Amino acid sequence: MALWGGRFEFEPDEAMRRLNDSLPFDKRMYKQDVQGSIAYTYALHEAGIITAEEAETLRNGLNAVLAEFEADTFVFIPTDEDIHTAVERRLTEIVGMLGGKLHTGRSRNDQVATDFRLWVWDASTSLNKALNQLMKSLVRQAEAHIETIMPGYTHVQPAQPITAGHWLMSYFWMFNRDRWRLSDAGERTGYSPLGSGALAGTPLMYDREKIADKLGFLPTQNSLDAVADRDFVAEMLFICSMIGVHLSRLGEDIVWYSNPNFGYITLDDRYSTGSSLMPQKRNADPMELARGKAGRLIGNLTGFLTTLKGLPSTYNKDLQEDKEALFDSVDTLMTILPVVIAILETLKLNPDKMRAALTEDMLATDMADYLVAKGMPFREAHHVVGQVVRLAGERGIGLTKVPLDDLKKSSVLFDADVAEWLTFEKSVARRANFGGTAPDAVREQVEFA
Ligand code: ARG
Repeated sequence: MALWGGRFEFEPDEAMRRLNDSLPFDKRMYKQDVQGSIAYTYALHEAGIITAEEAETLRNGLNAVLAEFEADTFVFIPTDEDIHTAVERRLTEIVGMLGGKLHTGRSRNDQVATDFRLWVWDASTSLNKALNQLMKSLVRQAEAHIETIMPGYTHVQPAQPITAGHWLMSYFWMFNRDRWRLSDAGERTGYSPLGSGALAGTPLMYDREKIADKLGFLPTQNSLDAVADRDFVAEMLFICSMIGVHLSRLGEDIVWYSNPNFGYITLDDRYSTGSSLMPQKRNADPMELARGKAGRLIGNLTGFLTTLKGLPSTYNKDLQEDKEALFDSVDTLMTILPVVIAILETLKLNPDKMRAALTEDMLATDMADYLVAKGMPFREAHHVVGQVVRLAGERGIGLTKVPLDDLKKSSVLFDADVAEWLTFEKSVARRANFGGTAPDAVREQVEFA
């Protein structure tokens, strides 16, 4: 019989059960469910519902249930509707009637909210660790390429020379913000709804703060909000989406840069795939999957926000939709991240190919900077160099091949020293202020990272 079956004459219909049951997906919260219940035994004792010995018996029973889950010997039965009913049912089989006291003053509404907050905290720790690994791999590659010069792009058009280390580190900071988001969101997740009951609170008088503290949480301040609040889920779904978007953008760069027309990057054999038809192919499939899965992460976020938006006050069964969305987002990332880490660890950058792709038009800004250094206002310098660029284009020569005499016709400020000013090395080295692409600045960045 269902846990709540007293007032019903008939058992739930089979099809209804399939729709209603959350066990198939929430069983993975067994650890958090036991953890929350163990904390709750202290509340029940403090409130005088059970003796210290009974509390101890319940905790031993709960630990026995946990052990069965860990040993994979826990047997579910058809009336186990969700993880909460399954744990309580099994606990009662182990400790007898006493198990029936565990749910005093508690509802699955405050229970599930507590469990899921605990789960989100654990998931956040796993994601944090994986991101940390990813960032280490980025730093390691960046460190090896502090001096490597490559083309930098805006609008996918050749823009200015940059250092490859700088390019790699740009992703470091994206993931750094994601870790920051995780810890920031964690503060809001760290609240215990225990004691909120179904919605109105609990008649049992115990120190909610003390019980919350057993979970590392603070107590929630409003029982109605506590059972209805899934902001922590939405935030986590957003963070997962943001991580996914960052991985997707990294994926886009790697897909292009590993294209032979660029050739900046060679992916390790173990992380590329071939074609069943074209023997020469070497595809960056994992990075395409990282890019593709961002869509699904964003879908989970959008879907769940849509579920939340029209909900009336306090708990509604719609909220059960929170779990599959977030489980999927976290699982998706935990599948992508190890592969992206391995790719970053094993990919080879090809400085020669990067070098060969540098074109002298990327030094146009430097030529303007040269004139600025000689006292010309930048706006005027921009115009002058524009003329030089046009001239070089007409003659089909590089910017540095325009004879000094012709340069002088555009501006008298041009001198013989312009040649040594206009090298790719000097170009990057000049951008040495904090946060710039100069090897010195990148070294500083890497050290800080
Ligand atoms: N399985 C439910 C969920 O995931 C647990 C809470 C059920 N509460 C209720 N009043 N039916 O949200």
